[in-house]
Order: sequence, then C-alpha cells, then structure tokens
Amino acid sequence: MDFSRIGQQLNVRTGINDLMEDMYEAIYSGRPNLCQLNGGAPAMLPELVRMWRASMERIMEQGEFESLVCSYQHPRGHEKFIQSLVKYLNDRYGWGITPENVAVTQGGQMAFFLLFNLLAGEGSPKSEILFPLCPDYVGYQAQSLVGPSLFRGVKPRIQRLGNHVFKYGIDFENLDIRPETAAISLSRPANPTGNVVTDEELDMLRAMAKAAGIPVMVDNAYGQPFPDITSVPCNTVWDENMVLSLSLSKIGLPGTRTGIIIARKEIIDTVMNAVTVSALCPNNLGQALVEPYLADGSLDAVCRDVVKPYYRKRAAFAESLLRQYFDDELPWHVHKSEGAMFLWLWMDGLPIPVQELYERCRERGCYVNPGHHFFFALPPEDRGWRHQHECVRLSFTQPDDVLHRGIRILAEEVARAYKEA
Ligand SMILES: Cc1ncc(COP(=O)(O)O)c(C=O)c1O
Repeated sequence: MDFSRIGQQLNVRTGINDLMEDMYEAIYSGRPNLCQLNGGAPAMLPELVRMWRASMERIMEQGEFESLVCSYQHPRGHEKFIQSLVKYLNDRYGWGITPENVAVTQGGQMAFFLLFNLLAGEGSPKSEILFPLCPDYVGYQAQSLVGPSLFRGVKPRIQRLGNHVFKYGIDFENLDIRPETAAISLSRPANPTGNVVTDEELDMLRAMAKAAGIPVMVDNAYGQPFPDITSVPCNTVWDENMVLSLSLSKIGLPGTRTGIIIARKEIIDTVMNAVTVSALCPNNLGQALVEPYLADGSLDAVCRDVVKPYYRKRAAFAESLLRQYFDDELPWHVHKSEGAMFLWLWMDGLPIPVQELYERCRERGCYVNPGHHFFFALPPEDRGWRHQHECVRLSFTQPDDVLHRGIRILAEEVARAYKEA
C-alpha cells in the first residue's frame, strides 16, 4: 500500500517500538522468568492506588460518573481540574498563570509530538529543535513529521566521579543556537540517565534562549511538584518563554493518558487547536481522579513521603546490585542517580555494539534498553561516536527478585563480551 510521506515517516521502526513491545510482552506474556528492566512504567504504589480508588468511589457516589464518561469536555481540559491546577501551581511557585496558560493532552508523549511539529518544520524559517544534552528520551525519536533533521543534539561533557560513577553536563562551549533553531528541549530529570540539569545550567539555557527569542521546553514528567522523583535540589521554574510539560503517568496513572502543558497563550491556543482537530478533547478520567488532591494540597505529602523515598530506595538498591554482580575490574560506570526511575550504565570500550548486548540479554529473558536509540538527536558528524553504543538503560521499578535476576544476566553478558574480545 502507498502511504504518504508522513505515513512512511510514522512507519519507521525506532527504539520506542521495541520498548513498548518488549514491555507489553514482559508484562502480559505469562513467561514467569522474564525480567522487564526496560520501559518507564511506574511502580504500583498502594498509597497512590488507594487515592485513585477513593476518588473513583467519590465520583460514583456523588453522581459525577455520568458527566465524566457521557460527555465531551472543553478541548483545554476539565474546567475544575484546570482551576485547581492553576491555583496549586500559583500557590507554590507564584507564576501568576491563568487557565489560558494551560492545555491538557493525551499524555506528555502527545504533548511533545504536537509541540515539536508545531514549532519547527516546513513553512517556518525555524527547522530544528535543539537538545542541549544528548542522550534524551527515546520517545521523541520518531516524533518528527519531517524526518530526523528536525532534531539536533549536542554531546555531553563527561565527568568521572570515581568508584564506577560518572555524570553528564551540558557542553556550553559547543552549544550553538542557530537562526533555524525553533526551541531548546530537554527532559529534567532526564530520561534515560537520571541526570538533573542544575538550576544554574537551566538558567544559562533560559538566558541563551531568551536572547535568541526562542522558548525552552522542559519535560518535567519526573520532576516537581509531582511526582517529584528527584534526589538533588532543583527548582521548577516557568516564565512566558518556557514551555513546561507535566504528566499524571508517574504518579501512577499512565492508563489515563494525561499530560499538561504550561505555556504562553499563543502556544497553548495552537496546542488546543491541534488537540481539537486530532482528538476533540483530552481524556477526563485522570483529571477527575487527581483534582481533589490538588485542591486540598494532599498530593504534595504523598509525593514527599511515599513516591520520592520509594524511588530513592529503589535507585540505591539497583546500584547496590550493580556493585554485587558487575566485575569490579571492568570499566563500567553508572550515571549519578539524581532523579527519574532508571540507571544509565556506561561500559567503556564495550567490545560488542550495545544492540548485540541487548539481544543476548533478551534471549535470556532480560529486557533492557540499548543506549544508542537515546542519542537520536546527534548530527550526522557525531553518529560514529562510540559512547552511544556502550550504554544501556535499566528501569528499577521491578520487584527485588526481578532486579537481582536481570542485573545478574546483564553483568554476565557484559563480562562475556569483554572476555571474548
Ligand atoms: C521524559 C518522558 N517524557 C514523556 C513521557 C511520556 O509520558 P506520558 O505517559 O505522559 O505520555 C515519558 C514516559 O515514560 C517520559 O519518560
């Protein structure tokens, strides 16, 4: 069948296809020993599940169920949710936003799909989105409707912190905003690395962007105020020159497909039109489940007392397993874990491409994410950079026994690769 150029573009298989299919298979295949260390599915925390259940029961008892499922809402989102969200954010951060600065989408994934293609591409002198620190979220990889040239990324500075730990930083010396740059974009905390771009780095990006008259887009899927999966101090900032994206997924509601964009009215109106054209309006359910906890402020306490400590403990546990199973003599390094739900492992000089390592682990029932997909924004001249074929991402949301088994398999395959070289 003949597909359009956009159809062909969307048919290209990328890392996100493998990721979603592997994740689905690991969850639903019924194979008991599969270790799902890929994907960004949040843990099902009982405290959160109880909250969403209580909300649902209230909705049923108070007769809101019918209006929730039997009618369309405004394309911007559920009015009560937007009102509560605006107050919640203004109370905490003093941004002075109004409902006109907010749009709800079918998840953060869709938010970025729309934003990238609305801000850059054909018909505009602006033809690229600039990623100041590669690697970044693999889910963006195939979102361009004009092909890979929409994205340009900059290699990071690598700082070795000792004891098998390293950290990326933004290489400001090589970060250039060009006349064709439409926006700067980054996830913070970062998926896949767990890096949190510092407040100082973000301020520098904002100053550069402001001088160039372009926005900075921050994907805050793991950040504050919710879910606040962070372990280093970092401020959530916003002004009219920023586009901030939030999501309900990582507070345990990925099935409700709810993303939130905070931006200046002009951008919000364009996103809202795109939502109307493509989906009429966003999904109501997640907004209705969360609204009471925004209105009474109790979401903060659960993020602070449950979500944040949970993921911090999981990160420490997963890192302890790396130290237990990986050969201390091998040149492996884990990115300093500062947020999100992943460990990013760099095996310096890995003798086989990481795709092969992924396939060997997969054959043994251990699913990880090969790192090269996350470097999608690197320009052609940097495609040969070996580092991108030496990294894997591990999710640490799985139970202890799964992490034990999975990390042991990975460590054995890494040791084998070095030994056979
Ligand atoms: C950085 C980042 N942005 C966006 C998304 C998509 O989130 P959502 O479920 O809200 O579409 C994810 C999902 O894992 C993510 O890690």
